[in-house]
Amino acid sequence: MLGAGAIGCLVGGLLAAAGHDVALIGRPARLAPVVGGGLRVRLAGGRSIASRPAVYGDPLQAGADWGVPDAVALTVKAFDVGEAVRMLQDAWPAVPFIVAFQNGIGTEDYLAGVFGPERVVAGTVTLSATLQGGEVVVFNRSGGLALAPVPGGEEACRRLATAWTGLPVPLAVASHAASLKWSKLLLNLVGNAVGAILQWDVHRLFRHPLAARLEHQSLREAVMVGRAAVPAFIDLPGYPVRSFARLVEWLPSGLFARLVGPMAARGRGGKLPSVALDLAAGRARTESPYLHGAVAREAASRGLDAPLNAALASLIEELAANPGLHQRYRDQPEELWRFLEARGLRP
Ligand SMILES: NC(=O)c1ccc[n+]([C@@H]2O[C@H](COP(=O)([O-])OP(=O)(O)OC[C@H]3O[C@@H](n4cnc5c(N)ncnc54)[C@H](OP(=O)(O)O)[C@@H]3O)[C@@H](O)[C@H]2O)c1
Repeated sequence: MLGAGAIGCLVGGLLAAAGHDVALIGRPARLAPVVGGGLRVRLAGGRSIASRPAVYGDPLQAGADWGVPDAVALTVKAFDVGEAVRMLQDAWPAVPFIVAFQNGIGTEDYLAGVFGPERVVAGTVTLSATLQGGEVVVFNRSGGLALAPVPGGEEACRRLATAWTGLPVPLAVASHAASLKWSKLLLNLVGNAVGAILQWDVHRLFRHPLAARLEHQSLREAVMVGRAAVPAFIDLPGYPVRSFARLVEWLPSGLFARLVGPMAARGRGGKLPSVALDLAAGRARTESPYLHGAVAREAASRGLDAPLNAALASLIEELAANPGLHQRYRDQPEELWRFLEARGLRP
């Protein structure tokens, strides 16, 4: 696992439970509790899975002990993929499989360009998790892992899916990386930008008429662009994305908020979306360019309109670059509305 945060430790802990040899490569300070007491994955049903993966500070150290691994799961955030790839190229330029677990759009194409599509597999996780000391805490009950091939990587995906059997959570295999990632993107977008800007969780957001309307309209844009971008939306472990997309399209905003809002809040398991957490922590980078930003870019490349996603992505970038500005929008949906109106938007 290259990047030993919530997802690296979660996927690593699940693979270790299925009998695989797992090494976590990550920040030494973050991994110190795992070195001391091992790794635990606490699933939402209460089941706790203990393992003792090997732990390293970088791939060169791991390579000295392990040689070339069978597969590397890239579990850093999307904005750290470039640096992680440089480390991979230094240590294991010939690693057979690289699985990209990033949320958002773009990582697989980048990796396929660097390593060749025959070695790249798209991965996604529909479990919402955080790393607390040496324990991964999973918030939602339903969920699992899914894999899909990039064009030209079908054999890699088939071999990996065959090897990764016996996991303690469901593992689905889809036919197209792009469908997998756009389907997961729809789930990621729920409550993400508007929630990050207002610092509201999904539950609160859908109970406020203005915020709920913005949320619904931005999701409508994403469904419209996604339908043009990929062969089809697909259902993911625990999440009926195809029905969700249809509800986004069919329901009026008020009904959408009342019917889908509570379900969406439960789906997140009470965890704030990562863009909200990154802004709250004053981090200069978020994954928003790979989420709402990707919707806006894809729309532009196809001559479609996704102005709300473009405006929300640009405001988040502004807030990440200038944390002092965030005070103006925190808890202030009317202020966000004014920001959008000033750009000619009337969602
Ligand atoms: N958490 C979830 O519930 C969840 C669910 C599904 C998908 N995802 C996706 O999974 C990806 C990973 O998310 P996460 O929540 O696991 O993030 P995270 O907890 O921040 O973990 C990423 C870890 O990788 C480390 N890292 C970054 N660059 C590195 C490098 N070059 N070498 C070694 N370590 C490096 C980071 O350290 P620093 O922070 O010190 O840079 C951090 O500890 C994201 O794309 C996210 O959207 C997350």
